[in-house]
Amino acid sequence: MTETLTIQRPDDWHLHLRDGAMLAAVLPETARHFARAIIMPNLVPPVVTAAQAAAYRDRILAALPDGFGFAPLMTLYLTEETDPDDVAAAHASGLVHAVKLYPAGATTNSASGVANFDRVRGVLERMADIGLPLCVHGEVTTPDIDIFDRESVFIDRVLDPIRRATPGLRVVMEHITTSGAVDYARSGGADLAATITTHHLVINRNHILVGGIHPHYYCLPVAKRETHRQALVGAATSGDGCFFLGTDSAPHTDALKLSACGCAGCFTATNTLSILAEVFERENALPRLEGFTSRHGPGFYRLPVNTETVTLTRGEPVTYPGAIQTDDGPVSVFDPGFPLHWRVTG
Ligand code: DOR
Ligand code: ZN
Repeated sequence: MTETLTIQRPDDWHLHLRDGAMLAAVLPETARHFARAIIMPNLVPPVVTAAQAAAYRDRILAALPDGFGFAPLMTLYLTEETDPDDVAAAHASGLVHAVKLYPAGATTNSASGVANFDRVRGVLERMADIGLPLCVHGEVTTPDIDIFDRESVFIDRVLDPIRRATPGLRVVMEHITTSGAVDYARSGGADLAATITTHHLVINRNHILVGGIHPHYYCLPVAKRETHRQALVGAATSGDGCFFLGTDSAPHTDALKLSACGCAGCFTATNTLSILAEVFERENALPRLEGFTSRHGPGFYRLPVNTETVTLTRGEPVTYPGAIQTDDGPVSVFDPGFPLHWRVTG
């Protein structure tokens, strides 16, 4: 059995770092293992302009403890007022690596997102021209659609029409949760990719609801039934370059999670690599872990693969803290529900 595994240093292609005290507490959890991350712009207020993205990047770098090498890859939050010239300039300067599409009302801080997709046509066409990826939260938000169907309906009614109307638009389907999304991502050619989270490789909807309600497993898109989780594991471990890691690690204080109306999000930054190694090992796919965490993402984003490495070592189960402490209160670390034998040792 393999006992050590050395891979190119991973990147996280979908990460929530928040701001202020939360940023200071969660940033080291990612920077410890990851070289770069695509930083989600759903702050309050959202990161809409290049100037806001530059200021947010500066706050992230200021919060980075000495000795950590970590590069935040900034995104802009797409609104119906987004200026194509501002987006193009932010991309040309090297500041912005993607634009994030939240359908209005889909998730945390998405009220400023897009309701009328015709109103962002000009931005999307400019992005297709310059090769700037669109990161898509793929869920419809109309109340008549069952929450478990929101992703598949979005692909049919929104994503596929947008892609047909905008040839050359490069799209990342984020945090996919269904076998239909796996199939769609696979069929899309070089301009389409999909990120998969750590938690969606581990939990299905029973984890949220059976034996009591488990708020720490509630995230968006909500986990689906077991057959879909298996399809995600199959995609992640397949070696197919269109699938790569985007943890969607999304910290909320326990007070906000353990509430009558709890926030969506799983905080996985701390133990993601241990969990992924366990998942890949179970599938006899450890040789393909590096592609998923470290190679496919740079390939799609047209960035170099990191030159440094990390080494994972197999041994007695590793324990992680149940929560990290922040000045806003504790944030529980995602519990995969099984022992983790792989730890990062170098
Ligand atoms: O679970 C989630 N949490 N899904 C999202 O789309 C947003 C995220 C957050 O910002 O908390
Ligand atoms: Zn997210």
